[in-house]
Amino acid sequence: MSDPKKLFIKTYGCQMNVYDSERMAEALGGSGYVQTETADDADMILLNTCHIREKAAEKIYSELGRLKGLKTSNPDLKIGVAGCVAQAEGQEIMRRQPAVDLVVGPQSYHRLPEMEAKTREGAKALDTDFPEEDKFEHLAKRPKASRGPTAFLTVQEGCDKFCAFCVVPYTRGAEVSRPAERVLTEARDLVERGVREITLLGQNVNAYHGAGADGDWTLSKLIRELAKIEELKRIRFTTSHPNDMDDDLIAAHGDCEKLMPYLHLPVQSGSDKVLKAMNRKHTAEEYIRLIERFREARPDILLSGDFIVGFPGETDQDFEDTLALVEEVRYGQCYSFKYSTRPGTPAAEREQVDEDVKGERLQRLQALLTRQQVEIQNSMVGREVGVLFEKQGRLDGQLIGKSDYLHAVHVQAPTALLGTVARVRISASSTNSLAGDLITD
Ligand code: SAH
Ligand code: SF4
Ligand code: F3S
Repeated sequence: MSDPKKLFIKTYGCQMNVYDSERMAEALGGSGYVQTETADDADMILLNTCHIREKAAEKIYSELGRLKGLKTSNPDLKIGVAGCVAQAEGQEIMRRQPAVDLVVGPQSYHRLPEMEAKTREGAKALDTDFPEEDKFEHLAKRPKASRGPTAFLTVQEGCDKFCAFCVVPYTRGAEVSRPAERVLTEARDLVERGVREITLLGQNVNAYHGAGADGDWTLSKLIRELAKIEELKRIRFTTSHPNDMDDDLIAAHGDCEKLMPYLHLPVQSGSDKVLKAMNRKHTAEEYIRLIERFREARPDILLSGDFIVGFPGETDQDFEDTLALVEEVRYGQCYSFKYSTRPGTPAAEREQVDEDVKGERLQRLQALLTRQQVEIQNSMVGREVGVLFEKQGRLDGQLIGKSDYLHAVHVQAPTALLGTVARVRISASSTNSLAGDLITD
């Protein structure tokens, strides 16, 4: 048997890309590839890309510029671009960087093996279709190898919302949900291989409506069914849209023990005028009422969000409204960005906010968000939390895991506890993590 070929995948962007990268590696496993950690000795390099902001897309071209040099020492090296830049720019990528052999959009990963074979014949391979067949159906069966305690599982893809700033509806296509039974089978399989926490993924995961034997399932029904898998200890989901929340998903946060007390619910802006211009289709008030309902169901829930500053037309007053919303909600964790014009989206055509103004607003918003994050982290000290241990720490005898609230926690604990959930009392809070002690009684 010949030596296995080596595959190096570099992943950018959101968790859906992390999941897709795993599936691509599995798909190419059938063509004799094993994964490697460095680009230097690879026979195939795949960049799994993100198109969400201009910087993200430009990074890919500079990375490709660097990687093409590796072809000098290894003429058999093939370079591929997958993900959202591949979908958005297609053939243009090969024009801008002729060293690229393969361009594959997110819905066509199941076609990777034949595309790879084509590149081995010296041809270029391009596929950015939104094919009729479901890629998940046609992807290679997941291998049985054991794996770490946490996993992502994509249950829904695509977006029909068309927020005025966003490329996702164009790069990922229309909303599609995977059938419930397929998701359950994949989850059971992951748990058999050692997974204890599953994060269900979707661009609008709470719009999930996968087919079941008894009609379409909602996300909460799926979560409640997953919770019956005994060895699965924790369930999370991301990302949600405020307009797709239903009563039972809120209720599940109160009565489904395995559903973790953490909710990522982006709002983008606190100004109704900006929300309308963004085509978000809800007001700041409606968002705040929704958060209140979650807090009634689960008082200790930790909230996370995304914000865009400097959206076209955003005035100082609109920005103040965003700060006011943040003050009212109190977030444990947030992502905030300067608005970035994306070709083909409606907002790109509008009059833009000055870059300096965007920069100042981002700084002020981030200062507030960081303050809240630190306050909430500090408030964990003295509390008892569950921690799922994921890996060994740098210090002797130390394990690192995530709390129920997704904080990283360092604990002195025996290695045997890796992959288990332990009770921990939080003893200290530092910039990006907590420390705690095992509760042994
Ligand atoms: N589906 C999710 C978000 C997916 S994109 C939702 O509806 O919230 C992740 C985040 O990137 C968005 O929440 C938004 O804050 C940010 N983002 C998207 N397009 C952007 C753009 N053009 N400029 C700056 N940030 C953007
Ligand atoms: Fe983008 Fe809006 Fe869809 Fe989220 S809901 S992926 S921000 S278009
Ligand atoms: Fe980026 Fe595509 Fe995810 S644009 S954020 S990788 S869906």
